[in-house]
Amino acid sequence: HMPEPCALVVFGITGDLARKKLLPAVYDIANRGLLPANFVLIGFARRDWEDGDFASLAHDAAKEHARTPWDEGVWQRLANNIKFVSGSFDDDKAFDRLARTLTDLSDSHGIVGNAAFYLSIPPAFFQTVLRQIERTGMANNHAAGGWRRVVVEKPFGHDLPSSKELNDLVDDVFTWRDVYRIDHYLGKETVQNLFAFRFANTLFEPVWNSHYVDSVQITMAEDVGIGGRAAFYDQTGAARDVLQNHLLQLLALTAMEEPVRFIPSAIRTEKLKVLRAVSLPADLRGNAIRGQYRQGWLAGERAVGYLQEDDVPDDSTTETFAAIKLHIETRRWAGVPFYLRTGKRLPRRVTEIALTFRQAPHLPFAPTDTDELGHNQLVIRVQPDEGVTLRFGSKVPGTVMEVRDVAMDFLYGETFTEGSPEAYERLLLDVLLGDATLFPLNEEVEASWAVVDQLEDFWEGQKPFDYRAGEWGPPEADRMLARDGRAWRRP
Ligand code: BG6
Repeated sequence: HMPEPCALVVFGITGDLARKKLLPAVYDIANRGLLPANFVLIGFARRDWEDGDFASLAHDAAKEHARTPWDEGVWQRLANNIKFVSGSFDDDKAFDRLARTLTDLSDSHGIVGNAAFYLSIPPAFFQTVLRQIERTGMANNHAAGGWRRVVVEKPFGHDLPSSKELNDLVDDVFTWRDVYRIDHYLGKETVQNLFAFRFANTLFEPVWNSHYVDSVQITMAEDVGIGGRAAFYDQTGAARDVLQNHLLQLLALTAMEEPVRFIPSAIRTEKLKVLRAVSLPADLRGNAIRGQYRQGWLAGERAVGYLQEDDVPDDSTTETFAAIKLHIETRRWAGVPFYLRTGKRLPRRVTEIALTFRQAPHLPFAPTDTDELGHNQLVIRVQPDEGVTLRFGSKVPGTVMEVRDVAMDFLYGETFTEGSPEAYERLLLDVLLGDATLFPLNEEVEASWAVVDQLEDFWEGQKPFDYRAGEWGPPEADRMLARDGRAWRRP
């Protein structure tokens, strides 16, 4: 199905996210034939540009980052409907012009008043822009029969109080139903596949609980450093940047109950229950580890330490790595530890969810034959090498009964040759379609902050542990699992 005729207004159109993700996503959607003919893209930014200047930036950005093959014809059709409104966020006249543009487009381009506003801007500007949208009457068009939606990028606040404030503000200007909070991990195919994997099969759900699962590890590792984002990152740190959102959303999808139907309200309800049931160890010492990378080597290249990155203060105590242990206080998960970790400048880029199962209750083999025999493990590889691996014990061919772990692999790339849509492509299309299934609700965001706030309180005034760039975080993170008789996977 295809969105109704509409306009997409992007604030912060000259920023990184817009160039690398949003503009290419618009092109990819068009290229797949999923955009209505009456679609208008409006960029809003401070530059003193004409429509043509913007169209050429958009062209280059889309061409460079598009996921689907480049087709100049598709772009040209889009380019006819690209507009630019120049102005700063506190410029009333600019917003008046934007409002007028939208009204005019209803007549000239038949968008019948439908518009989505994408806030791809630093959080410091959220309030100004939202109030401008409200002042100019752009937030609400129900009377005229069209829809108005708003897309909010993370970070949704800095802690629980500020996220509540932000949620109140957004919900004050827009109806809650029209608010789309982006967590781009939910746009990833492999993350959505968790629904299919868990709820479309018979095999896995019966063992998806504390009777069979020994522990769960969720890893989101990146080999990159902070790039040119010091100003943002140093105020944020790994826990606020990705644990609060991507990691806790992955946790929610892994641990949730089956939704009664595949509709937004049912899915959000189940995710929220998990997030509200998260409990951190009473003593966080040794169970909530922060790290900061120092100089090291990655793939044969020297990587500078965090403190030597441009614009990072010499005495910064911001973490670039976080590893925590938590429990989910429900019957299904009682007693099962969930270990979550994320970091920059780790040995490789990999995101995975790994369930380790309990050992077989009884092994009828001689002990020496089973030395190699581990626990069954199910690994969902979110990225890269998207797929699922099941590890199980198998007899090693030969004249004795020797058992060893082997792996059974499913690889997306081998089975599905079509290629997946990029996360932002999927989410942007969903916004235009009005499908909120993959967008976290404000309560989910707040429940996640409630967890992260506890960590931040505990870390306050402490220095993070060091790890060398190219290592899997500080040794303290390994000790956290070793104390429980476990070890992190080395994917
Ligand atoms: C973003 C974080 O949300 O996710 C970045 O702000 C991080 O710090 C990025 O690098 C990772 O996304 P992906 O899709 O490349 O795994």
